[in-house]
Amino acid sequence: MRCFRRHYAVCLISALSVFSLVIQFMVLLQRSPCTVNRLCTTEFSDKIQHGTSNKVTYKDYLDRPSSDLTSLQNEWKVDATLFHKFPKEKRFLTLGIPTIRRVGDEYIMDTIKSLVNNTRPKELKDIYIVIFLADFNETWIDDISKRLNKSYPQLISLETLVVIRSWKSFHPSLENLNHTYNDKYEKWRSKQNVDYAFIFLYCQHLSTYYMQMEDDVYTISNYPKVIKEYISTMTFPWTCLEFSELGFTGKVQPLKDRFFDNLEKTYKGDNPPAKLYTNLVVQSSFTPESAYILEPGYFWSQSNGKRGDWFTVVFDDPQRVEKIIIDTGSREHPTDKIEHGKLQASLSLLSIEQSQPKCTNDIDLGYLSGGFLKVDNLTSILRSFRIHCLSLILTANQDWWIIIKEIAVFVAD
Ligand SMILES: *[C@@H]1O[C@H](CO)[C@@H](O)[C@H](O)[C@H]1NC(C)=O
Ligand SMILES: *[C@@H]1O[C@H](CO)[C@@H](O)[C@H](O)[C@H]1NC(C)=O
Ligand SMILES: *[C@@H]1O[C@H](CO)[C@@H](O)[C@H](O)[C@H]1NC(C)=O
Ligand SMILES: *[C@@H]1O[C@H](CO)[C@@H](O)[C@H](O)[C@H]1NC(C)=O
Ligand SMILES: *[C@@H]1O[C@H](CO)[C@@H](O)[C@H](O)[C@H]1NC(C)=O
Repeated sequence: MRCFRRHYAVCLISALSVFSLVIQFMVLLQRSPCTVNRLCTTEFSDKIQHGTSNKVTYKDYLDRPSSDLTSLQNEWKVDATLFHKFPKEKRFLTLGIPTIRRVGDEYIMDTIKSLVNNTRPKELKDIYIVIFLADFNETWIDDISKRLNKSYPQLISLETLVVIRSWKSFHPSLENLNHTYNDKYEKWRSKQNVDYAFIFLYCQHLSTYYMQMEDDVYTISNYPKVIKEYISTMTFPWTCLEFSELGFTGKVQPLKDRFFDNLEKTYKGDNPPAKLYTNLVVQSSFTPESAYILEPGYFWSQSNGKRGDWFTVVFDDPQRVEKIIIDTGSREHPTDKIEHGKLQASLSLLSIEQSQPKCTNDIDLGYLSGGFLKVDNLTSILRSFRIHCLSLILTANQDWWIIIKEIAVFVAD
């Protein structure tokens, strides 16, 4: 982790800036958001409505900024709100989370659980969590809103959890886009731009601060307090503070950013009971165990890696192992991986002194490549031998910190 890596997130935004972001997103889209029939009368909006003959250009947009969006406000916010009326009370912070239907994977419920669990009960009244169901599939909207209603009755009655939706008519046609990017995701991106504009606009006056999040992040405990305290230390005017590197554009003051990431385990090994040891400097909430347990979390060192640094799993009972997967770095911190390192199995444990295991009868199992290593068919190499210690050992210095995202150990049957 270094402070100046990728800085392309606007996460915490003072409410005043929200509207200008809406405008910027509309520029990105290169189309006007003016799509509600009665408000669009010009030739320009005709173009948008029918998306046919001529493409709508950036110049068209500049000639006719999106003033219509603001005049839409009153009723649409009420209509967009699923459980209550549009909330009126101004709070400290709004967390805005757009989510769409994903076949197979659904993260949003866990994300909400993590947001709520990591907020102290009395602070729930200081925040709004606005979930934007940004998909037009009515079955899905119905289903997920029922489940939210059922899972969080209290949060809904506090108005802390606000669930919203939009309609196709709010969105411009996404045919005939003339894009600044040349990529196959342009339609998806454009939809996402409008989604962001929609949620920004919805949240515009709800709170003093707004933070945009993705639907698959987990938070550190007590994040509202951390954010509040951080804001109170700011001694100069700011537009945006960065608490993460979530993926939407906007360049701002780079500040601390280690609060949000995808912490889910991917490989989920059998991981028999073990103790974890390392000589690396541990960041308090990113313990060595976090890399090994199946629950969300990872290990994160707080110093650059040096040749000879080690991270060791000592099984409570020696194990016959078939397969091991090591994954380092994370989605938000992809460079914090072990670039040069090897995995070593030891058949014997001599002692553990001052949290340093002494293991012997070592066998090198392989070198990490791109921060990753998978070794299979171990029983064909090790036969009936059992492994007592597994050590990751750095074979070179590196100028970045280390995240060990997952150690998955699959035992032989
Ligand atoms: C639209 O795209 C075409 C082809 O990429 C480009 O030549 C043209 O300048 C674009 N028009 C605008 C207004 O951006
Ligand atoms: C809630 O947080 C506590 C500690 O802050 C943790 O032990 C517990 O596992 C969390 N529960 C969920 C469902 O995330
Ligand atoms: C809408 O969502 C439901 C439930 O998630 C799914 O079964 C159905 O296939 C979806 N319909 C379309 C057209 O994608
Ligand atoms: C939410 O659940 C309550 C019962 O807890 C029910 O009265 C209400 O109609 C539900 N609302 C929606 C929109 O499903
Ligand atoms: C592992 O063993 C299986 C057969 O047991 C074989 O098909 C596979 O190719 C082996 N994989 C490696 C990486 O050697």
